[in-house]
Amino acid sequence: MPALVLIGAQWGDEGKGKATDQLGGSVDYVVKFNGGNNAGHTVVIGEHTYALHLLPSGILSPGCTPVIANGVVLDLTVLFEEIDALEARGVSCAKLVVSADAHLIPSYNRTLDRVAERYLGKRRLGTTGRGIGPTYADKMNRIGIRVQDLLDEGILRQKVEAALEMKNQILVKVYNRKAVTADEVVEEMLSYAERLRPRVRDTGLLLSQALDRGETVLLEGGQATLLDVDHGTYPFVTSSSATSGGACTGSGIAPNRIDKVIAVVKAYTTRVGEGPFPTELTGEGADAADGERLRKVGAEYGTTTGRPRRCGWYDTVIARYAARVNGVTDFVLTKLDVLTGWDKIPVCVAYDVDGRRHEEMPMTQTDFHHAKPVYDYLDGWTEDITGVRTFEDLPKNAQAYVHALEACSGAPFSSIGVGPDREQTLELRPLL
Ligand code: GDP
Ligand code: IMO
Ligand code: MG
Repeated sequence: MPALVLIGAQWGDEGKGKATDQLGGSVDYVVKFNGGNNAGHTVVIGEHTYALHLLPSGILSPGCTPVIANGVVLDLTVLFEEIDALEARGVSCAKLVVSADAHLIPSYNRTLDRVAERYLGKRRLGTTGRGIGPTYADKMNRIGIRVQDLLDEGILRQKVEAALEMKNQILVKVYNRKAVTADEVVEEMLSYAERLRPRVRDTGLLLSQALDRGETVLLEGGQATLLDVDHGTYPFVTSSSATSGGACTGSGIAPNRIDKVIAVVKAYTTRVGEGPFPTELTGEGADAADGERLRKVGAEYGTTTGRPRRCGWYDTVIARYAARVNGVTDFVLTKLDVLTGWDKIPVCVAYDVDGRRHEEMPMTQTDFHHAKPVYDYLDGWTEDITGVRTFEDLPKNAQAYVHALEACSGAPFSSIGVGPDREQTLELRPLL
């Protein structure tokens, strides 16, 4: 099996970390191809719970080589804190390699992310404040600092000085902050150079050669389809390419080497941060209570910022869109267990936009803001399903719920999650 891509189908936190960890034991490389430490993946292995941000979830599988590829933005302080914390728990990070082309998140971009949000006030995006947006903007603006610059102090200094000419104007004149000196930025970055140097590789070449040898590469996306800068709910998105196309540009693996595209999708929907969300349960009364119940039972609090996640029902319009944009071959359905105990479970099958029915994502942001969910109401179940291990052992109504979702989501379901642990998974078709 050559390369597989694994991405999120909704607004993130679908359970990509658990799905990647489950495949990690059977693949040779797990590659993070986009985003940075805005991601938060919780992986539960028996008694142990790991919260990963920057490291690919494959770090927990001893046989596989974790790769931070060129499409990632890297906060060096966070990287080494995460490595140290995992090693202190007995997880070896010795095999981790980092692309020479990945961009670094300088401290001034963390500052700019936070002050920009403050200045936006009511129009803020609700970013994670980790400097992600400004660092990708610098990359496109061609004033970014890359991992390879750490290997040449003269070049590093030149690049930081050039970037600060622009950045300091913005910090001082727009946001009323103190100017930053090149010395402090260079010194902080260089303090990590010797630890980073042995891990730096041409990861595009490394991965292509691995594929030539018949080895298996899993490309793990951070964030998700509707947070993708091109295909998401712009401007309420992250700043990277979180869809399957981004797996190629973000890793240097050519599109014709990708064999499978696995999308992780939750049995309901969540979102962190601002932006439209048609099936969100808000307001007063029964809806708010259902939203609160999903949040509580599903433990829907951000792994990165601790913010409560906004919760709502499953949206098949979004699933079909994710299937199309990513070329999904397999869906991994997660958190079915959270839906136990509802009498009826609403599933959004289309939108009503100002009196018109939409079965596809509306073309404009204005229409998406006006989209009202059209629901089918499916029968619920009361039995605890967290101990179930085969599809046939699920209550009949849970089986019918899964079949109904699958029929409208645009690609087959290959596995179903009934709890956070590695073991709490029903396999319908092998993914590898
Ligand atoms: P990611 O960002 O897509 O990796 O997802 P997160 O880790 O941020 O959020 C998913 C959460 O759901 C984590 O706490 C997982 O441990 C948990 N989880 C994953 N699959 C299941 C499942 O099938 N059932 C339940 N109850 N929890 C799950
Ligand atoms: P994982 O990989 C959920 C959201 C933020 C904000 C928007 C932009 O765990 O699924 P950013 O800091 O990226 O500029 O913020 O994107 N966001 C996520 N939401 N899960 C994530 O990652 C996210 N990463 C970013 O909340 O709305
Ligand atoms: Mg997450």
